[in-house]
Amino acid sequence: MSTTPPAGKLALPELAEMKRRGAKIVMVTAYDTPGARFAEDAGIDVILVGDTAAMVVLGHEGTTVPVTMDEMLFLTRTVARAARRPIVVGDMPFGSYQVSDEDAVRNAIRFIKEAGADAVKLEGAGASLSRVRAIVGAGIPVMGHIGLTPQSATMLGGFKTQGRTADAARKLVDDGLALEAAGCFSIVLEAMPSPVAARITEALRVPTIGIGAGANCDGQVLVYHDLLGLTEGHLPRFVKKYANLSREIRDALEAYADDVRTGAFPSEEYSYAMPQNELAGLDADV
Ligand code: KIV
Repeated sequence: MSTTPPAGKLALPELAEMKRRGAKIVMVTAYDTPGARFAEDAGIDVILVGDTAAMVVLGHEGTTVPVTMDEMLFLTRTVARAARRPIVVGDMPFGSYQVSDEDAVRNAIRFIKEAGADAVKLEGAGASLSRVRAIVGAGIPVMGHIGLTPQSATMLGGFKTQGRTADAARKLVDDGLALEAAGCFSIVLEAMPSPVAARITEALRVPTIGIGAGANCDGQVLVYHDLLGLTEGHLPRFVKKYANLSREIRDALEAYADDVRTGAFPSEEYSYAMPQNELAGLDADV
């Protein structure tokens, strides 16, 4: 597999270089071509086609577990088509890497070959370490993910902050080190106290990307729909809303529905005219 990125693409080693320079890495999720274009234009470094798609795109309530490989490949393809500079990471869905290293490698290859991703992400340490080694061994870059790992939320007792005791925090540092040793090029730290994320970040050579993990990570990620105000209902404490697009979309759709019902749309401005003589001819024929 070639290690030379296409022209314009941010080279993967640049992320570690950014960590060394102290330049923050910006990652956002995206699930379609317009989202990827907006991310590209905003100068985002990494786009994660997250399995949060299950919730924010596919309508599953409060779980990432049901999203399938085929759905993730479809979404990743739409993003990879538009993302020129950002590194595109395909999130391996639940069930696509838990069974065996062989399965994990086969599915990771599909993300690269069929969907055009540059890298894949998978959750956890423990059994995932062997998966990371196998996928990296096949020449595919892997992003790790520790802390709150939504695919195993049931085992964790729900969507809860992790690493709140000294022992649990120490375990997270060990998991981070083990994932780095297994070959991860970067690790997402989700929902853990800031001092724990800071210690992991300091202990690792590869960059950490935080979500609900405080300011001392090497980069940050938020879910596209959350930061744009497209997600309705409860949002985790760590989400900062930079827009309220769901309000704007509702207002626009209501205005459109009103205009159609009252006949205000389409006005002349939005309609095609016909030359008078042709119209006269048409009427004469009828
Ligand atoms: O699936 C996802 O969007 C994620 C991010 C929250 C890191 O894993």
